[in-house]
Amino acid sequence: MNEQQHKSITVFDSNPALCQGCAELIRQQAEAAIAGRKAFHLALSGGSTPKALHKVLADSPFREQLDWSRIHIWFGDERSVPHDHPDSNYLMAKQTLLEHVDIPAANIHPMAPLPDRMPQAAEDYQQTLARQLEIHHGFPVFDLVLLGLGPDGHTASLFPGTTALTETSAWVTPVYVDKLSSWRLTLTYPVLENARQLVFLVSGKDKAPVINQLFSASTDLPAARLQYRDNTRWLLDEAAAQGLPG
Ligand code: 6PG
Repeated sequence: MNEQQHKSITVFDSNPALCQGCAELIRQQAEAAIAGRKAFHLALSGGSTPKALHKVLADSPFREQLDWSRIHIWFGDERSVPHDHPDSNYLMAKQTLLEHVDIPAANIHPMAPLPDRMPQAAEDYQQTLARQLEIHHGFPVFDLVLLGLGPDGHTASLFPGTTALTETSAWVTPVYVDKLSSWRLTLTYPVLENARQLVFLVSGKDKAPVINQLFSASTDLPAARLQYRDNTRWLLDEAAAQGLPG
């Protein structure tokens, strides 16, 4: 890992400190985007790690400091379940963040991937993105994409060994994940690479081994393709950072 790569990593001494640090980064980026472009397009990740971050954003001072009327909430991926299903990333975001802040309903853009309409759901989301986001190099530009990291090195729903890893033209793609025996919808690499900022939020000792894999040598883990981009930041807590080499 060279100096530049090392600078992309920030380690916080606890999960609460990690979430505060990430919320502060979001606030700074939101203020700059709103000042410069009148809107802040933020894509949330799913799973459990973001819940603590969402609660920080939904509480003072961030609830008051952020101009939610100018913030648009998108999703990096979604499970093929209804929005009221406990596995829904949208439901998690709604319960931990969106119903606690003064954000207009029109600014919330859930994916709607139901098992019998995955290609249509991907197309619908792409159309919504095309209507709302700037397009550079043929792909939409998010201001900030929050990304999680699975123990197998997946991020969003870019899982190892899946067709999503080789998608180079679609902005959003359905992907069948064998090990989960389920369909997902995910943003694709070209869209993630086109974002102004990618932030991996990684917490807990169970992520130390995959952090070690990613940062000890070059790997073909899905997250590795986004790992050292100029627009990538890694925010880790001490427990996950135990996996960092040296
Ligand atoms: C999802 C996420 C996924 C998640 C990782 C880490 O829909 O599950 O987008 O990529 O970020 O699996 O999940 P945890 O935060 O629960 O460890």
